Amino acid sequence: MSSILIKNIKTMYGIQTQPLSFKKGAAMSVVDTLENAFILTDNGKIVDFGPMKEAPERADEIVDASDRLVMPCWCDSHTHIVYAAPREGEYVDRLHGASYEEIAEKGGGILNSARKLQETSEEDLFLSAGSRLNEVISYGTGAIEIKSGYGLTTESELKMLRVIRKLKESSPATIKASFLGAHAIPAMYKENRHLYIDLLIHEMIPNVAGEGLADYCDVFCDKGFYTVEETDKILKAAAKYGLKAKIHANELAISGGVQIGISNHAISVDHLEAIGHDEIEALKNSSTIPTVLPSCSFFLNINYAPARKMIDEGLGIGMATDYNPGSSPSGNIPMLMALACNNMRILPAEAFNAVTINGACALELGESHGSVARGKVANLIITKSIPSLDYMVYSFGSNHVDKVILRGKIL
Ligand code: NIG
Ligand code: FE
Repeated sequence: MSSILIKNIKTMYGIQTQPLSFKKGAAMSVVDTLENAFILTDNGKIVDFGPMKEAPERADEIVDASDRLVMPCWCDSHTHIVYAAPREGEYVDRLHGASYEEIAEKGGGILNSARKLQETSEEDLFLSAGSRLNEVISYGTGAIEIKSGYGLTTESELKMLRVIRKLKESSPATIKASFLGAHAIPAMYKENRHLYIDLLIHEMIPNVAGEGLADYCDVFCDKGFYTVEETDKILKAAAKYGLKAKIHANELAISGGVQIGISNHAISVDHLEAIGHDEIEALKNSSTIPTVLPSCSFFLNINYAPARKMIDEGLGIGMATDYNPGSSPSGNIPMLMALACNNMRILPAEAFNAVTINGACALELGESHGSVARGKVANLIITKSIPSLDYMVYSFGSNHVDKVILRGKIL
């Protein structure tokens, strides 16, 4: 593979020179930068960077980034981009006053998506998810987690995970897969939910793990969905098969999801629109990464996770799009940063760290992604001519990304 020299970079953001990667508390507002810089990639990796006066003269390909910014690609640690159909009808129902929970109780929501997915072929799902993936790559995403959870039968959950595997094999993005069979209780199990949980534990998890289709097991632990006891049982069964935990917690209520995630060594607990003092204290004493999903708050018109308070209390947070047809039909990270800064009162630098290095850590990719460091995968964004990261977030709604480089290849 060929080498690329990006030269005359106006400002390079997200430089990492220390091995310690995850950023917490006050460190979240620090983004290391270099002005008038170069970066050299070779064989898909970042091999060198520094001030222009130290730049090498030759490379197979030279890109002039005068007036432009260079930053690491975004690491989106929570998405559901494999789905069969959008749900704009439910969106309008909500505008008429229905709540997300009411729609779900009537068989809409996740169950609506599951009915449609069960009828859709693996090939069609692959094509539509592939085009969503390409769209988010064009906004600068380079690593992404994708969940199952709209199948809700063994066959359809496996179908979704095989689509994710195909995306892993065919896309230049780095992809992690999560099994989310415990996303909702299918209607036919409404009166005997333990039978569906038995199916999850004794059939789905062994099959998913047997085919090596998932890195993580996720559960929607929340009011109206899975209880703390059920979540615990499912996560423990998954752990026996080597699937680590990553959960949806505290979106709709103080559900106990944060604590049960922590006690199952979850890599991250995601959502957190409804958390209090006890949850924040529990997170402080754990290595589980609290991950906030502000576009879900925007779209469902619900509380935002208290990211400002969490950072002020010393926590490090990850931030992700939650791209899905029901609660966040967008995978646009620059837009997400604008929503986060405005509504959670965090700074562009904090939002940047939440979607780069901390997002990488929430994908267990902190050693290889999420910053500009020698030896890391060459996943880089070259912006259009803009003055700064602050401007990128301030000037919301425009796509300021000019070029995306994934694994050392300009797309
Ligand atoms: O993260 N909260 C649970 N799951 C998704 C939404 C799923 C849906 O509505 O389709 C979420 O918001
Ligand atoms: Fe989600």
